Amino acid sequence: MGFATDAIHAGQEPDPATGAIIVPIYQTSTFVQDELGKHKGYEYARTSNPTRTALERNLAVLEQGKFGLAFASGMAAITTLLTLFKAGDHIVAGHNLYGGTFRLFERVLKDFGLRFSYVNTTCLEEIEPALGPHTRLIFIETPTNPVMEITDIAAVAEIAHRHKILLAVDNTFMSPYLQRPLKLGADLVIHSTTKYLNGHSDGVGGAIILTDAELAERLRFLQNATGAVPGPMDCWLVLRGVKTLAVRMRQHNENGMAMARFLAHHPKVKKVHYPGLLHHPQHELAKRQMTGFGGMLSFETGSLENAKTLLRSVRLCSLAESLGGVETLISHPASMTHASVLPAERARLGITDGLVRISVGIEDVEDLIADLDQALAKM
Ligand SMILES: Cc1ncc(COP(=O)(O)O)c(C=O)c1O
Repeated sequence: MGFATDAIHAGQEPDPATGAIIVPIYQTSTFVQDELGKHKGYEYARTSNPTRTALERNLAVLEQGKFGLAFASGMAAITTLLTLFKAGDHIVAGHNLYGGTFRLFERVLKDFGLRFSYVNTTCLEEIEPALGPHTRLIFIETPTNPVMEITDIAAVAEIAHRHKILLAVDNTFMSPYLQRPLKLGADLVIHSTTKYLNGHSDGVGGAIILTDAELAERLRFLQNATGAVPGPMDCWLVLRGVKTLAVRMRQHNENGMAMARFLAHHPKVKKVHYPGLLHHPQHELAKRQMTGFGGMLSFETGSLENAKTLLRSVRLCSLAESLGGVETLISHPASMTHASVLPAERARLGITDGLVRISVGIEDVEDLIADLDQALAKM
């Protein structure tokens, strides 16, 4: 089936008990058994719950994987993924990961003996020298936050597999509508479903999707053993959000492009980071590996003072962390999402004090542009 059809139907049968067309919120902690060892496939809701099963099956189809696992947050998904490894194992990660992922690696998992190296994965030649005999995983995000650098997923998968290493791609920024890492050779896809998959800024969740049955069985064991599972209500909210993923992403693409073009031509904007613009350093790669450029962009206002004035002056765009919702959010990476990154490292990544990030929503784009235009005029 096509993507939009799968988004609405995959993994979701009408409720067998009542015929309800929408998978119910099975708000229960346990399931009655007919006799010892005889049950209907569900025993205890940490292990599995029918609402969660529907979401897991749906996400597996959308990412063109075979298995989906839902978690209580994106960070819970990443934490569980990393429990596949043991002390002494080495992970190579992108140099500009989501701050929470970097914090988990550096301030939590290092204490358990996992070792991490960070490389600029947009430069393929930097990857191989970082690999060692104990490297088990390459973990990347593409595009990166907030400067939208693109890594060639197929090329990294080829390197990883030549060394018998797994490749995990955090696909939160794109959603499966715009990018399917498993098809490009990745072994595991991660999502913060909090973002585009939910799409309505009303829940926190995460997911892992993969094709390998043995790995999936181990992750299923770890999901149950560590217990960071989402409740049925949160699964239901993501399931409902996903039904409109295709139409939402088409509009995010359109609005993102229009906003990027407006900003690129504005005399007060020094630079725009958006993979859909011709001057983006990996525009050709983005065209090849993504089916659209999405709704995330950042731009340079020139100074902290300018950024503050802009953020104070917007009326329709809301100053907030997070992304991927129907409403437009604007933020200041240096003092918000990337505050814990050292200033020198921020400078190296291009995250200046004047950089502003926008998660372009699906409002009428003329209204969004008018809002930014009046805010830029105050700078
Ligand atoms: C790319 C990316 N990955 C993972 C996460 C973590 O997800 P969550 O906030 O759902 O734990 C985020 C959160 O912003 C993110 O942007």
